[in-house]
Amino acid sequence: MKTTISVIKADVGSIAGHGLTHPALLSKCEEILGKAKEESLLEDFYVTNCGDDTELIMTHRHGEENEEIHELAFTAFTEATAVAKELKLYGAGQDLLVDTFSGNIKGMGPGCAEMEFKERPSDPVVVFCMDKTEPGAFNLPIFRMFADPFNTAGLVIDPSLHNGFEFEVFDVMEHKKVTLKCPAEMYDLLALIGTISRYVIKRVRRIDDNEIAASISTERLNLMAGAYVGKDDPVAIVRSQSGFPAAGEVVEPFAFPHLVGGWMRGSHNGPLMPVAQKNAYPVRFDGPPRVMALGFQIADCKLVGPADMFDDPAYDPARKQAAEIADYMRRHGPFEPHRLPADEMEYTSLPGVMEKLKGRLEDMDELL
Ligand code: 13P
Ligand code: 13P
Ligand code: MG
Ligand code: MG
Ligand code: MG
Repeated sequence: MKTTISVIKADVGSIAGHGLTHPALLSKCEEILGKAKEESLLEDFYVTNCGDDTELIMTHRHGEENEEIHELAFTAFTEATAVAKELKLYGAGQDLLVDTFSGNIKGMGPGCAEMEFKERPSDPVVVFCMDKTEPGAFNLPIFRMFADPFNTAGLVIDPSLHNGFEFEVFDVMEHKKVTLKCPAEMYDLLALIGTISRYVIKRVRRIDDNEIAASISTERLNLMAGAYVGKDDPVAIVRSQSGFPAAGEVVEPFAFPHLVGGWMRGSHNGPLMPVAQKNAYPVRFDGPPRVMALGFQIADCKLVGPADMFDDPAYDPARKQAAEIADYMRRHGPFEPHRLPADEMEYTSLPGVMEKLKGRLEDMDELL
């Protein structure tokens, strides 16, 4: 019998501004998932938040893209939205782009990462949740976990990883996908995934046996909505140990607070700060962007845990560095490369300003 982990997330309202999910929303989701567990649709669940995003971490026996599971998540977010409206929370229902569910939650606003596998004798899994950034923020750390021997010692010294991993990459602009093997096609992979706003890693599999290793949410909210409604704060599920990177190798890339798109109004580059769940509350300039890591053991489709993995003083230097980089980046104010480049600004509220200036832009005859 196989186990499925589905992590489905949405921002359906927060205090104050885009800061923090209200506990009443988490309780409402727990109540709804609790009923689904009683009715045996779910085997287990854990509800949490990263900043203003509510994350539903669910285990079940129904496989990926299951209609009932997706509808359950949609119902939880819809009912939590009603609570958010009563409390006049900020951005109540922000990420729900439609009123009624039809078939699959993808394309409706929430982000979704899922994987199905046969449980090993011991199955450690890490669920990463980010706020104030976008799916491409996972490209660098996921690459390092599964393809960089300077991060993951196991790629070199453990025969069960030595043949490498393959990466399924989505082009979110052109709706195309490609699978590239590492180490053989590493340079091709890097040529794509360095463009974090367009090419995003969706899945990683072990080359030896095609076993699923990682799954990342790739939904781009603003591309779906056709207007800026918020950032597509992503989640990822990563398996570890015994044929996969060790848990410590899975969290190691986040000791470097790399620059990601998001932050204020989803329009700025800033450092990704690894934090304990209690600090997954982006305040300064609505940021800087955060990532938290919850470690679980999966036991007969139950979630044992979580361990709050970035609640570790060894990440203090990364947090300090992120705060220093945040200072440095902020001093650029509205200038690139703090502000996102023009092509990315098309998916924000800037086009409204450009529209206003349209009539005043003259053709010029001066030579350049
Ligand atoms: P333990 O001896 O603590 O299980 O550690 C083994 C290991 O491989 C750590 O990466
Ligand atoms: P969220 O996507 O987290 O709601 O952030 C939106 C925003 O504009 C923050 O300034
Ligand atoms: Mg929000
Ligand atoms: Mg958010
Ligand atoms: Mg968002």
